[in-house]
Amino acid sequence: MKKLLLGLAVSIQLINPAFAQDNFQPFQGKQYITVDSDASEQIQKSFGKDVTVVDNSYGVSLLQINGNKLDDLSEFMHLNFKRCGGFILHQEAEEGFQTLRTNGQKRWANAHQFMDYQINQEDLIKPMIQDVEQQNIADSIIELSKFHNRYYTSQSGVDAALSIKDSWAKLGQDREDFKVEVYQHKNFPQPSIIATIEGSDHSDEIVIIGGHLDSINGRWGAATRRAPGADDNASGIATMTEIIRIAMKHDYKPKRTIKFMAYAAEEVGLIGSKLIANDFKSRGIKVVGVIQLDMTNYQGDETDILFMDDYTNKAQNAFLGSLVDKYVGVSWGYSRCGYGCSDHASWHRAGYPASMPHEATMDGGNPHIHSTRDTIEQSNDNAKHAAKFAKLGLSFMVELGK
Ligand code: BES
Ligand code: ZN
Repeated sequence: MKKLLLGLAVSIQLINPAFAQDNFQPFQGKQYITVDSDASEQIQKSFGKDVTVVDNSYGVSLLQINGNKLDDLSEFMHLNFKRCGGFILHQEAEEGFQTLRTNGQKRWANAHQFMDYQINQEDLIKPMIQDVEQQNIADSIIELSKFHNRYYTSQSGVDAALSIKDSWAKLGQDREDFKVEVYQHKNFPQPSIIATIEGSDHSDEIVIIGGHLDSINGRWGAATRRAPGADDNASGIATMTEIIRIAMKHDYKPKRTIKFMAYAAEEVGLIGSKLIANDFKSRGIKVVGVIQLDMTNYQGDETDILFMDDYTNKAQNAFLGSLVDKYVGVSWGYSRCGYGCSDHASWHRAGYPASMPHEATMDGGNPHIHSTRDTIEQSNDNAKHAAKFAKLGLSFMVELGK
């Protein structure tokens, strides 16, 4: 009977071009699924020798199914977990590993609580916050907007990156535990810039405050088009510069290591941050928190600070909300990009906890970005809104850096 069915299947394949086109493979004895680890435990109990655990990480399990049990498994998942399907099927173990890495890392980055998020550094943070001067932020925005553009392949894009390096290096020139590096990328001229305050105690644990340094106007001919990028994203870089200035002024000495990252080539697909995040991941570097400052100076909404709730970490977002309440004293809420809209997504995809505090809701933000009109005039020639993000960034740095 089995032989008969097999013969039938083979001949159907031969005569039905749809089978050939779809590269249809009849069941061959071993299949793999990825499934949440909670479900995996139950499956192992119920299916015994019919499943073997291949790997288990980031809250996801890769299981080998040792018989034709998929229908039973579907039914089991449906009954026990009210999930339709509830697992992903893989014909090859390698594809399963890939899914484990990507989906698992993303889910981990979204739902895992990485830190205990206690808030108790008021004595340090209050005086630092009082020193935030919006005029400094406005001045930096204006300086960065003067580069013809900051496109990742143009000379002005390289010059802008180096100007950030110089201004950050100057702020910390008296400190031995402060350095600024040019992080050169292989395939394009614009470097990312990374400033580091070395931690005194847990220097292997890293807190990252980031934003992209490049700008763009349209797609074709972008290398030569004028792109001031005042809000997108001179505002984020200028906010970071003010945080560094105050950290240095107060002789702030973190226990963990703090890194400020100005990423290259965000506007063409999050490239700089992707390369850095994957580099950190492959070197096993422990990043305990990441915030992305991208567009901080256009008040497009009644609510002051909006946290993007996708491609970010839930617990860290809530922690940031508490920091706003405790130290910044403005209103906050949630919004959603709907896609990996900025560099936080690169860290998220690599399995790290990331957040993106933003100037407005996704729809309510600055309508002039990616054009010649993205100047500080659209923000009434001041950096009042960005100053709130500098205060939040300082709070985040000190509470996580302790
Ligand atoms: N700053 C924007 C992202 C953004 C725009 C966030 C509006 C919230 C509201 C960023 O620089 C950008 O332009 N991102 C690209 C996506 C990227 C993958 C090239 C975008 O949104 O098109
Ligand atoms: Zn942009």
